[in-house]
Amino acid sequence: ETKPRLPVVWLHGLECTCCSESFIRSGHPLVKDVLLSMISLDYDDTLMAASGEQAEKSLRQTIEDYKGKYLLAVEGNPPTKEEGMFCIVGGKPFIEQLRWAAKDAKAIIAWGSCASSGCVQAAKPNPTGAVPIHEVIKDKPVIRIPGCPPIAEVMTGIITYMVTFDRLPELDFRNRPKMFYSQRIHDKCYRRGHFDAGQFVERWDDEGAKKGYCLYKVGCRGPTTYNGCSTTRWNGGVSFPIQAGHGCIGCSEDGFWDNGPFYSR
Ligand code: SF4
Ligand code: SF4
Ligand code: F3S
Repeated sequence: ETKPRLPVVWLHGLECTCCSESFIRSGHPLVKDVLLSMISLDYDDTLMAASGEQAEKSLRQTIEDYKGKYLLAVEGNPPTKEEGMFCIVGGKPFIEQLRWAAKDAKAIIAWGSCASSGCVQAAKPNPTGAVPIHEVIKDKPVIRIPGCPPIAEVMTGIITYMVTFDRLPELDFRNRPKMFYSQRIHDKCYRRGHFDAGQFVERWDDEGAKKGYCLYKVGCRGPTTYNGCSTTRWNGGVSFPIQAGHGCIGCSEDGFWDNGPFYSR
């Protein structure tokens, strides 16, 4: 009750905004508790009420007032071609805003596959030269939270951990928090028994599909994808892509758009 809320600056580069859409649907903890009790979301050009000069002023002021104390959260990534002209925020290339905001940040989070690995805009032939943010910020660790988007409770879980313990979560060799990214979808998938028994969906409308057999032969990438979907699930633990009848497309893995096609092995 007495601890000041953690100041957060949330930037947006080239992205689709669904990482924010996921975040605002967190049920455990409720996103309202994160926003009202844990963090002070001082700048977020998608979620804040202010716009234009008022918003820019709030960004400058947060960075000046909380040097070395604010969390920088980044959704999306910077294009590097044509001096960054493919993404302009507040009249300047996003890549400049990113470098400037990263300089005095206490910690940096890359939300989603755009910020963590490039995602669709970095897929071949990557016309804008989009790069993940750790290729721009090289002097401090970037916590990567991949997924397109990441699971809401993974996003708020990381924030809760950092606010509670005042330290970074334990990270793996790709700077992903081990607590959510140490297992493959395949390891805890409820269709795993069918995989082990050799019972596969061969076509989308066959008997195996109706019986809920394993989706490996129609392209499921669960065996090579590290994420919490088969344990944490989505929409407050209700379901995840495989439970809805579609194989995992590996959305939390580096370069997943270029690893396709999604429906064949
Ligand atoms: Fe959208 Fe996916 Fe990028 Fe998140 S990672 S902003 S969901 S495209
Ligand atoms: Fe593994 Fe995918 Fe089959 Fe589940 S549906 S058991 S993740 S291959
Ligand atoms: Fe993405 Fe696969 Fe989960 S497609 S949402 S990592 S099941």
